[in-house]
Amino acid sequence: MPAASATNPALRDSAFLRAARSEPTPYTPVWFMRQAGRSLPEYLKIREGTTMLESCMRPELVVEITMQPVRRYGVDAAIFFSDIVLPLKAVGVDLEIEPGVGPVVAEPVRTLADVEAIPDLTPEHVPFITEAVQGLVGELGNTPLIGFAGAPFTVASYLVEGGPSKEHAQTKALMFGAPDVWDALMRKISGIAAAYLEVQVDAGASAVQLFDSWAGAVTRDDYGTYVQPWSAEVLSRIGETGVPRIHFGVGTGEILDLMGEAGADVVGVDWRVPLSAGIERAGGRAVQGNLDPTLVFAPTEVMLERARQVLDAGAAAPGHIFNLGHGVIPSTDPDQLARLTAFVQEHSAR
Ligand code: CP3
Repeated sequence: MPAASATNPALRDSAFLRAARSEPTPYTPVWFMRQAGRSLPEYLKIREGTTMLESCMRPELVVEITMQPVRRYGVDAAIFFSDIVLPLKAVGVDLEIEPGVGPVVAEPVRTLADVEAIPDLTPEHVPFITEAVQGLVGELGNTPLIGFAGAPFTVASYLVEGGPSKEHAQTKALMFGAPDVWDALMRKISGIAAAYLEVQVDAGASAVQLFDSWAGAVTRDDYGTYVQPWSAEVLSRIGETGVPRIHFGVGTGEILDLMGEAGADVVGVDWRVPLSAGIERAGGRAVQGNLDPTLVFAPTEVMLERARQVLDAGAAAPGHIFNLGHGVIPSTDPDQLARLTAFVQEHSAR
């Protein structure tokens, strides 16, 4: 099945997909990373008694959780509810997502043999993803669904460290000290990420986002040598499907140009970088971002004034998708996001 946007003209012409292709839009489209999840009471309720990874493998739950913020906020795109480690779980890597901690891998990957023991991903590993995406595309109608995967560096960090890490020290030690193992690991994870995104696009996702959340942990030179080529490989494979590709990371001010050159249609800008600078570094590509996620805790008028500044800066880009500069913080008041969504859509109307 082709991307739903290929057969549905209203979807193809949605503000989100137009902005992602750097085409003029009637207003600036808005969605939020982590819009589905812990900030929503309806999410906490439906998740009761089910582990995170179990819920990702139950299509009816994935559909409902993905739809919750779309109904509540009227955002311009849905983000598929899952996690970046789900495809690893699906091919058989022994890992869990521990509440309050994050992904924990039973046996960290450090050697060539460890890498070779990880199977490549085929669509048969993830029938529940195909089913969930197909269900969502039916429910969403003219609202685009964004599929996603973790980028090779960020996923490698969980595999090598065995869990969440601030310094990514073991990961970078492997990168610097065992380039052959590093290459094998990155080739393995790139292949899994690309195959996993292809499954989502084949089932009807009309855009994808590659999350390289921890790419800001490496120097610009090391990014270019050890990280960017593998993300480029994933983005190039998805380019063949024709859907727009968003490339996002945190703390990436020094590498935004390289993230664009990796093959993105849209460069995700975190909140530390002034959006005007992000637009320049994105080199003629569309941008996504970048309100500081903590501004939702400020008085509404302060939040909206800062959102107005982001919209004004975004007007200079060939395409601008409004978002926060990273995911929604769990203690966020959903009513603030509702006000923010309405403000972005109304204030930017042209
Ligand atoms: O709201 C929720 O967080 C609910 C469910 C949940 C997700 N991941 C969904 C998810 C939970 C509990 C996790 C675990 C997890 N995995 C964490 C959080 C640890 C914690 O409990 O505080 C983290 C950091 C991971 C690893 C991970 N997952 C990364 C680095 C990313 C990339 C995005 C980012 O935040 O930097 C993900 C993607 C992810 N996990 C999404 C969702 C819904 C992405 C899609 C989206 O934007 O909604």
